[in-house]
Formats: sequence, C-alpha cells, structure tokens
Amino acid sequence: MTFEPQMPNWGLIEFEQHKEKLVNYHDWLYSTGVKTGLISKKPKQFIWDEFIVHSLYFHHLIKKYNFKSKEIYDLGTGGGIPGVPISIVNKRKVNLIDNKKTRIYELQRLVKTLNLENAIPKEEDANFTLKNLEKTIVVMRCYVSTLNIVKIIQKHKLENKNIIFLISSSSENKKELKSLFHVKQEKFLINKNNFRTIDVITDM
Ligand SMILES: C[S@@+](CC[C@H](N)C(=O)[O-])C[C@H]1O[C@@H](n2cnc3c(N)ncnc32)[C@H](O)[C@@H]1O
Repeated sequence: MTFEPQMPNWGLIEFEQHKEKLVNYHDWLYSTGVKTGLISKKPKQFIWDEFIVHSLYFHHLIKKYNFKSKEIYDLGTGGGIPGVPISIVNKRKVNLIDNKKTRIYELQRLVKTLNLENAIPKEEDANFTLKNLEKTIVVMRCYVSTLNIVKIIQKHKLENKNIIFLISSSSENKKELKSLFHVKQEKFLINKNNFRTIDVITDM
C-alpha cells in the first residue's frame, strides 16, 4: 500500500514548515521504533495518521487557546508520542517522560539524530513528575484516561497549580467531569474520514 503524508487543513502551515523532520520521525518510528519495541508493527499510513497527525493536534490546541507556558510535559511518552511531533513544530522545551529506561535510551538517540534541541527525554515515574509540576502544559496520549487524571489531580491537590492537561480520549463520562472541572472535548480529523478527540482540562 502506498503511503501519503497527508495533512488536514488545520495543520497545513506547520506541515509545510516542518515536513522533512516530521517525515524523518515517521520513518524512524516505522523502522527503529518497531525494531526496538517502542511501537508494534503498523502500516506506514497508520503511523502517519494516528501518531504524527494526531500528535500535531495537541500543538494546534496549545496555539488555538494561546496557552502560555515555557515547557510542555509529555507523560508516558513511549516512542515520543505526542511529544516528539510537538517539539518539531513548537519551540518550547518538551519533556519526554517515561519510566522505561530502554525507551528513554532510544529517544535520546532519536533527538540527536533528528537534532531536536528542545526535546528532553527523561526516565521518571510520571506520578512523581505530576506532583512537582506547576504553571505548565501536560500532554498525554494513550497513557492515563481523563477520569483517572481528574482523580490524580484531586489526590495530589494539583487544582491551583495552573496546569493545563491535554489528554487523548474516547468515550467517557463527561457529565461527571464537568461537575468537577472545566473539561472541553475537542474533536478533529486525522485524515479525510477519521475523527479523534482530545480533552482539554483548564481553569483549575
Ligand atoms: C500505551 S503507551 C503510550 C505511549 C505513547 N504516549 C503513545 O501514544 O503511543 C504508555 C507508556 O507509558 C509508560 N508508562 C507507564 N507507566 C508509567 C509511569 N508510571 N511513569 C511514566 N511512564 C509510564 C510506558 O512505559 C509506555 O511507554
């Protein structure tokens, strides 16, 4: 099957400016990412749409809402998703947090290969990271659900620490969330036909 590095309208500007690095990261995921077990074997188009395009919408939301923060934290980054594509199109420091040494080792090699000066892989337990964050943006894809994050926020009393959470989501009990926090679900196209959603938690 042929592979097309397509981009929905919302991402065309970033795509045109950073196409080479985004495609290089895609190729790295397809080869090294699979070889080293960072991701399971997937078709090239799947990796582009689900990992690269999906990740770029996190950046799109940061831009759309004009969220101000010097740093971004990607918790449970795995193969650098969504943190690596964000670091390619966004100048801010992007901390890539994972508690698996081998994943961090591969990401350290990747950031050197792609010359991503603002992407910082770090081996750390995300539960520890969360407790120490303040005035920042946290992104997460396929790591912790929005409902669980709300519980963690309450448990660790993170409500007044000025942290914006952007979390990939599916179908969850939004009613329960709304009574506690401001949660907005953003729906977007990752290609011509498929929608995904990201929950934005603010106003804490
Ligand atoms: C399902 S993968 C998702 C990876 C990536 N975000 C994605 O969308 O493809 C979850 C990742 O979270 C990491 N992880 C699990 N528990 C963690 C913890 N307590 N602290 C940091 N990372 C953790 C795992 O090592 C794994 O790489």
